[in-house]
Amino acid sequence: MYIYKRHHFYTPNSTFFNFKDSNSHTPYNSMTKVSSFFSNVFMFVGGTLVTLVIILALWSFIKTPNFSTINLDFNLDQEGSTNFYDEPNLSYTIEKPIQNWDDKRRQWFNLHPSFKLEGQKDRVLIVSGSQSTPCKNPIGDHLLLRFFKNKVDYSRIHGYDVFYNNVLLEPKMFFFWAKLPAIRAAMVAHPEAEWIWWVDSDAAFTDMDFKLPLEKYKNHNFVVYGWPKLIYEKKSWTGINAGVFLIRNCEWSMDLIEAWAKMGPQSPEYNKWGEILRATFKDKNFPQSDDQSGLSYLLLKEKDKWGEKIYIESEYYFQGYWVDIIDTLDNITNKYFEIEKKIPILRRRHAEKVVSEIKVWEEYLIKDNYSIRRPFVTHFTGCEPCSGDYNPIYSWETCYNAMQKALNFADNQVLRKYGFVHNNLLDSSSVKPLPFDYPSNI
Ligand SMILES: *[C@@H]1O[C@H](CO)[C@@H](O)[C@H](O)[C@H]1NC(C)=O
Ligand SMILES: *[C@@H]1O[C@H](CO)[C@@H](O)[C@H](O)[C@H]1NC(C)=O
Ligand SMILES: *[C@@H]1O[C@H](CO)[C@@H](O)[C@H](O)[C@H]1NC(C)=O
Repeated sequence: MYIYKRHHFYTPNSTFFNFKDSNSHTPYNSMTKVSSFFSNVFMFVGGTLVTLVIILALWSFIKTPNFSTINLDFNLDQEGSTNFYDEPNLSYTIEKPIQNWDDKRRQWFNLHPSFKLEGQKDRVLIVSGSQSTPCKNPIGDHLLLRFFKNKVDYSRIHGYDVFYNNVLLEPKMFFFWAKLPAIRAAMVAHPEAEWIWWVDSDAAFTDMDFKLPLEKYKNHNFVVYGWPKLIYEKKSWTGINAGVFLIRNCEWSMDLIEAWAKMGPQSPEYNKWGEILRATFKDKNFPQSDDQSGLSYLLLKEKDKWGEKIYIESEYYFQGYWVDIIDTLDNITNKYFEIEKKIPILRRRHAEKVVSEIKVWEEYLIKDNYSIRRPFVTHFTGCEPCSGDYNPIYSWETCYNAMQKALNFADNQVLRKYGFVHNNLLDSSSVKPLPFDYPSNI
């Protein structure tokens, strides 16, 4: 099934469509009350837990396997040797291109050879972010915290670094454009990272074991979820979803970002691009130039220049539309239980860092043509947890429950290694300790 939803629907001053909370019976009032009751009761406990998780996460970044074998002396700037950071014309801002980034990065690696060790060359930095001010939705910040916790969990488990940005690095590049300056700065700040992985704040990892198949992308510099047919034949601006993507830290990507950012609101060509994009993509029903249409345009109209290095992934949920996913989570849970009941090694308890059973899981998932695989990333397109300006084709309850369900589904995979599991997927607050040999005894 094709998905025609965009990861975000409109800008803060949007006129894209005129949804208003016109009366005081806002759809999420009752939910807010319930939620604030629970958050008062559990504020202390919750706060402590979250703090602990973040401390654990930070500790784990420091101790991450990627770096554990490194002699720290290697990572100090070598005495007397300069690198690109010492050039006064180095700029982290998006409007000043960096020349010869591949050379600069290569020279940096030569000065810091330990980062080139085998097994570390596919280093990933997750970049995400949200606005600098409190969310308009009274429980928006709570939801963003849960989405962030989810990213921290995934990163800790896989030894990835996270950069969460919540300030506009280029003041004019608001909302969905804000990711580009953040990614650009992250590329310069992290020459050791081979990939920057942008993940929208409203997207959650829902398969904590799944690892990006980076080998598959070795000849590409950019990976995005979508359907080539929708872009190239239907000329739809929703043929891809720009809310989650991988971008290689290289000169090609610097150039791509430059070309892409030219369509942004900081550019003198912003209005012109609004018109061009609307004329190109007939289903684009708002006049402003947006990042997703912009990327689609580069794919469609400048395919010779960019297309060869862009991988459009649709084999697994590199990011998936929550509406397609949410009703499958119960069946998927049951299916995984069934398999675990059959295979003792899959239910054996182990330390969080030990992941030896993944191969066994793969054998079972392949047998089923991956038809029951957990969705990797569930993206709450149109739910707008922070602003609360959700797309009125859904109700807030639907969005809210779906977010709880997906986040708890993911949290169960994490908590299980700590010996607990949520009582049910819609119950975010209470858990039960797991008996020995779970789930063979349920
Ligand atoms: C700064 O300018 C020099 C000389 O033009 C150039 O070689 C160098 O690549 C520039 N550095 C950056 C970071 O762009
Ligand atoms: C869940 O599984 C049941 C039994 O196999 C099936 O009837 C139902 O359609 C499935 N639900 C979804 C949402 O896939
Ligand atoms: C998996 O796919 C193959 C090839 O498409 C097919 O022959 C097989 O029946 C499928 N197996 C299941 C369990 O669906």
